[in-house]
Amino acid sequence: MLKLRHAIICLLCGHLSETIAFPSILSNINWKAGIELLGSFEQPKTTLPMKRETAPNGSTILWVIQDTYEGSTFFDTFDFYTGPDPTNFVDQQVAINDSLAYVTSDNKVIMRGDNTTQLAYGVNRNSVRITSQAQYNMGLFILDLEMAPWGCGVTAFFQTVGNGAWPYTGEIDIIEGVHDNQHNQVTWHTAPGCNLTQNTNFTGTIVQTNGTDNLQCNALINNNAGCGVMEWSRASYGPLFDEAQGGVFAMNWDENGIAVWSFYRAAIPLDITQGNPNPSNWGEPVAALSTQSCNITNYFANHSIVFDITFCGDWAGNSYATSGCPGTCENRLMDPTNFVNASWIINSLSVYKQASLSISGASSATQTHPIMNLKMTGWIISAVIFIHIVLVSL
Ligand SMILES: *[C@@H]1O[C@H](CO)[C@@H](O)[C@H](O)[C@H]1NC(C)=O
Ligand SMILES: *[C@@H]1O[C@H](CO)[C@@H](O)[C@H](O)[C@H]1NC(C)=O
Ligand SMILES: *[C@@H]1O[C@H](CO)[C@@H](O)[C@H](O)[C@H]1NC(C)=O
Ligand SMILES: *[C@@H]1O[C@H](CO)[C@@H](O)[C@H](O)[C@H]1NC(C)=O
Ligand SMILES: *[C@@H]1O[C@H](CO)[C@@H](O)[C@H](O)[C@H]1NC(C)=O
Ligand SMILES: *[C@@H]1O[C@H](CO)[C@@H](O)[C@H](O)[C@H]1NC(C)=O
Ligand SMILES: *[C@@H]1O[C@H](CO)[C@@H](O)[C@H](O)[C@H]1NC(C)=O
Ligand SMILES: *[C@@H]1O[C@H](CO)[C@@H](O)[C@H](O)[C@H]1NC(C)=O
Ligand SMILES: *[C@@H]1O[C@H](CO)[C@@H](O)[C@H](O)[C@H]1NC(C)=O
Repeated sequence: MLKLRHAIICLLCGHLSETIAFPSILSNINWKAGIELLGSFEQPKTTLPMKRETAPNGSTILWVIQDTYEGSTFFDTFDFYTGPDPTNFVDQQVAINDSLAYVTSDNKVIMRGDNTTQLAYGVNRNSVRITSQAQYNMGLFILDLEMAPWGCGVTAFFQTVGNGAWPYTGEIDIIEGVHDNQHNQVTWHTAPGCNLTQNTNFTGTIVQTNGTDNLQCNALINNNAGCGVMEWSRASYGPLFDEAQGGVFAMNWDENGIAVWSFYRAAIPLDITQGNPNPSNWGEPVAALSTQSCNITNYFANHSIVFDITFCGDWAGNSYATSGCPGTCENRLMDPTNFVNASWIINSLSVYKQASLSISGASSATQTHPIMNLKMTGWIISAVIFIHIVLVSL
């Protein structure tokens, strides 16, 4: 019983050090997993009913919520990009006034390109591109999406990108789609010296250049193609993705690698919908960048989250002639009815942070994470008393 209580205190401390808002910690602690872990304390040979991720140093990894982007406050924490581009990116005021960015009464976040204005030939179409004010170093990013923008002449991406001189702090394209594609592409763009490893366990197909797998993520060669992996699922982007009411994309970035999963709506793992994500239960990712040929910590830093809808830009413009889309991209751009599907519909975006739970050295968590805040101490004491009561009543 003493061991039990000790471990629960450590579990709490671990969570505390990782999150500022304690009430949200309370709702995010996986009490059941904690107790299962404790069960394995007393009987070391019992396997955990729910597989947990284990760090190379043997500690158990838990993911705790760091930031949630959703509903009416979504746009408060993003900046609208208005720099030069073949797409006419509008600022927040215009985006909101023209309903290019809004939140519906049922809390869906919508971003769209202008799908109502007839344009003269050669005029750029209005659209939005937003960048999170927060920056991240590692994390588990989970996007619940109902629709991603697509259609002839459209490029869409959901990415994280470093704030330093590009590409030296890296770019991770979690969703990258163009025209009428039905397969999402995951792509990394980095400084020279970071490569994809072939035969790492992922289900997607490495994008080729001149008939051979392009393993180099180096953005300074191959016209900035980066190293891409195409998802196998035809429902990972475009019309079939929308028809399935979208789904969830998850990107796990830590010092051991970067991996991306996608799940269509009917197949979203329960641990995600319950807000207690556990990548070790999700099976093989669709794409992964392993530390075997890329030192992750050296190539990725200080990433913001970006959503973008581009018309006839670098990618959609240059690939238009070979895409099977009708006419030219410039002509396509004039008619707003060509862009009725160029919208993001977002249910939520959550960023989780790693918290490690050391099973063997139960005291390390308390030592490395001293509790300084009295209010938090109060919370812990009440929580421990609460657990004590629960345990006694069990
Ligand atoms: C063990 O590894 C995890 C994840 O890599 C890290 O967060 C944690 O601080 C490490 N723990 C110790 C005691 O070194
Ligand atoms: C707001 O929208 C209206 C009508 O859509 C337009 O006439 C007006 O110029 C817009 N104002 C700004 C500041 O964009
Ligand atoms: C792929 O997964 C298998 C089975 O889990 C494992 O034995 C193998 O080492 C993995 N390969 C790589 C390159 O990680
Ligand atoms: C692919 O082939 C083209 C044309 O032959 C050539 O210009 C280009 O350098 C090649 N790219 C790579 C990565 O080998
Ligand atoms: C990446 O690939 C290039 C070209 O094959 C090679 O020269 C380089 O050594 C590789 N780097 C790593 C870290 O695998
Ligand atoms: C990555 O590079 C850093 C600094 O250059 C080094 O300390 C670290 O051990 C390297 N990591 C791996 C997995 O090689
Ligand atoms: C990341 O941001 C921090 C704080 O702004 C800065 O000190 C650091 O140099 C940045 N790292 C890289 C690799 O740019
Ligand atoms: C928009 O999506 C609908 C439903 O998939 C499709 O029938 C229509 O052709 C699309 N329109 C354009 C312009 O892509
Ligand atoms: C324009 O896009 C919005 C957002 O997806 C959609 O609700 C609306 O129906 C579209 N307009 C037309 C004319 O299809």
